Amino acid sequence: MKFFVDTADVAAIAELNDLGMVDGVTTNPSLILKSGRDILEVTKEICSFVSGPVSAEVVALTAPEMIKEGRKLAAIAPNIAVKVPLTWDGLKACKVLSGEGFMVNVTLCFSANQALLAAKAGATFISPFVGRLDDINADGLELIGDIRTIYDNYDFKTQILAASIRSANHVSQCALIGADVVTAPPSVIKAMISHPLTDKGLEGFMKDWAKTGQKIL
Ligand code: E4P
Repeated sequence: MKFFVDTADVAAIAELNDLGMVDGVTTNPSLILKSGRDILEVTKEICSFVSGPVSAEVVALTAPEMIKEGRKLAAIAPNIAVKVPLTWDGLKACKVLSGEGFMVNVTLCFSANQALLAAKAGATFISPFVGRLDDINADGLELIGDIRTIYDNYDFKTQILAASIRSANHVSQCALIGADVVTAPPSVIKAMISHPLTDKGLEGFMKDWAKTGQKIL
């Protein structure tokens, strides 16, 4: 499973990239706002050291404008994935941009039918939002499973990019279900390492080691 980092915070991406944890990056207008940076400038900087797909989202609402914005974003670097919303205009833009050879990430997916439409429109990635479904008392992980089944039934090549990931548990569950990619905030990726027995075990080893009076270096 690939790990994308869901942020436009360059320092946070670079830190995880040094650990080999970054197969790609996703951004959205809210994350650009949070970064306080210009979208073109920050996306270019991310692409200067991340070689995997970097999603940059269009903000137009009509297909012709989305296509123009998509082409401009795609010109930033060859590894840009143009992110379009799951609307009919978004799907039209997806069809055109993917036909021109650009990677397209169709975002704001909340149902299996929407994922089916995105695959038919030639999406490279579909982004189902796990956490936002959980927020309304629906089951975000169930949607990942449904899309996996549908895509496998018909051998769709669109990759399932599980988004709106809120916890380390979401990541492992998505991996078990078979999502192709999980995009998670840096805090969630960091939380994946935590286990109380690791901390307790290390503490015990350190105490016993001190009693030996030995040194390795
Ligand atoms: C990523 O592509 C999505 O925009 C993002 O995961 C949404 O996450 P949120 O629901 O935590 O805002």
